[in-house]
Amino acid sequence: MNAAIRAVARQAIAGEAEVLGIERGFEGLLEDAVRPLRIGDVGGILDRGGTFLGTARSERMFTEEGLETAVGVLRARGVTGLVVIGGNGSFRAADELHARGVKVCGVPATIDNDVGGTDTCVGFDTALNTIAEAAGKVRDTASSHARTFVIEVMGRRSGMLALYSGLACGADRILVPEVPFDIRDVCRTIVAGVERGKRHSLVVVAEGAAHAMHLAAELSPLCGHQVRAVVLGHVQRGGSPSAFDRILASRMSALAVRALLEGQSGVMAALRYTSVRTIRLSEGYTAERALPQELYDLAGVLAR
Ligand code: F6P
Repeated sequence: MNAAIRAVARQAIAGEAEVLGIERGFEGLLEDAVRPLRIGDVGGILDRGGTFLGTARSERMFTEEGLETAVGVLRARGVTGLVVIGGNGSFRAADELHARGVKVCGVPATIDNDVGGTDTCVGFDTALNTIAEAAGKVRDTASSHARTFVIEVMGRRSGMLALYSGLACGADRILVPEVPFDIRDVCRTIVAGVERGKRHSLVVVAEGAAHAMHLAAELSPLCGHQVRAVVLGHVQRGGSPSAFDRILASRMSALAVRALLEGQSGVMAALRYTSVRTIRLSEGYTAERALPQELYDLAGVLAR
């Protein structure tokens, strides 16, 4: 997100606009926690994880009163364009602001990668690399001890992170909220691997599909060997961003500013193949982002 804020500020200043940074996202906006951003204020942050402006989940932006307050603060501040960096919840609120006359453009940024209309979101690649590195370390101990590990990754409603990270670390099974599973079938996959001579088995599970601890406790007696659980948790949401994410954040955010300066509103930046473009904000939060079946099937083939 820092890379995104930096690009918003610098592109806007290049376009001779003044820039205000809003602290703690929509929550800060409702409290008028706003400060000017100059070129130097966004220096040295491109490679830093998180956001120096802070962030928060805001329930108030989903109420009529909250939306009216936000519009009032933006008007009083003379804001002519708002860049919203976030996921589909943020975009829903952003579209409500657009409907009330605020010019908005979204930049999709969520490790869940569940925003519609864009090939990927800022932060996803970094989280994926964090998981792949951690899973590699877990696999080392798994093969040394001939154990199975269940690795839990984030994703309450979306299995994107589990699917991609499972592919990246050669998981034996990937469990996602979108696809129901039978624990005996998971066990059969593991046991078949052991019978083929595998010294380790990895199961990657999205937090929305099952809890790793419960799964490991159920699998151990079924499989007849030790099954351990690793919950990666919030390490997935921090750390220096990958080069891909830094560039994606920069491109999308600069485009968002240019779109606002041209008078567009109610739109979001999207990556389509290799180019960035704007699409309707509603595409980001209305369409259910389906799990790519082709990748899910491939993971099954490669795990054999
Ligand atoms: O929306 C991103 C996400 O990382 C989810 O994958 C995860 O379930 C959730 O946030 C965790 O949020 P919190 O830190 O607020 O509990």
